[in-house]
Amino acid sequence: MPHKPFKAVIPAAGLGTRFLPATKAMPKEMLPVVDKPAIQYVVEEAVDAGISDVLIIIGRNKNALSNHFDSVPELESNLVKKGDQDRLAKVQESSDLADIHFVRQGEPKGLGHAVSRARAHVDDHPFAVLLGDDLIDERDKLLARMLGEYDKRGATVIALMEVDPEQIHLYGTAAVEPTDDPDVVKVTGLVEKPKKEDAPSNLAIIGRYVLDPKVFDVLEHTEPGRGGEIQLTDALQELANMEDGGVYGVVFRGRRYDTGDKVEYIKAILQLAADRDDLGPDLRPWFKEFAAGL
Ligand code: G1P
Repeated sequence: MPHKPFKAVIPAAGLGTRFLPATKAMPKEMLPVVDKPAIQYVVEEAVDAGISDVLIIIGRNKNALSNHFDSVPELESNLVKKGDQDRLAKVQESSDLADIHFVRQGEPKGLGHAVSRARAHVDDHPFAVLLGDDLIDERDKLLARMLGEYDKRGATVIALMEVDPEQIHLYGTAAVEPTDDPDVVKVTGLVEKPKKEDAPSNLAIIGRYVLDPKVFDVLEHTEPGRGGEIQLTDALQELANMEDGGVYGVVFRGRRYDTGDKVEYIKAILQLAADRDDLGPDLRPWFKEFAAGL
């Protein structure tokens, strides 16, 4: 039986402690990347892959997120009066993007727990999970590729990327076997944030998943793992080893920006701004001058 259209789930309930004090009263997903909050890029990516229903898992500070995806009548009528169509379009863009829903995580018990909160909304259908710390360049169609792979294989698909072994302790890491497709691997094992010497490979999970709904049953009994949190990686490890489960990895070789770390966040802003037609021409020569003076 064909499944219903994929829905997207975006966990946005983290405490954002790395970006304090900016995240004291605002979710880290609302931090601007150039001139858009990080989460808007992620919603746009889901929409670009053909998804129109998005569930955001929220923690504290919900208002900024829900307001961002809602209309703002007083601001809009003010811009209409001024005839400022450009800014009006920018304001309306985020409220017209997708059908956005919210659910609270309750307690911050980990990514696996956050994903399990999507069960009632997603029901018994495969769905995508997109983590807001990872931005994928809009020119590199990773999610669409993963949705296609799910349909081809009928099993969970995760995004993997080769990283420097020195960085592997920051990621979920996969043990893999090749398939006939050079960019697709069969996942045989997963470890959340291993030490360099224990890592089964240098293939890191980046924050894109297309999950089979069987993951919900697995998450119900997944015990707290690394950091005392219910880890999605641990549930996927079990799914990979189930007879009627299976996990595949799409090895991504495109452009990814990490907004979860301060230095990487600043780099992401500079790279994305330099690529833009409205900002790049002014910025690029300045970069050279600035770098020459370092
Ligand atoms: C989460 C996952 C981890 C994954 C990472 C990708 O960790 O638990 O497996 O590699 O996202 O960004 P976090 O960075 O939220 O600690």
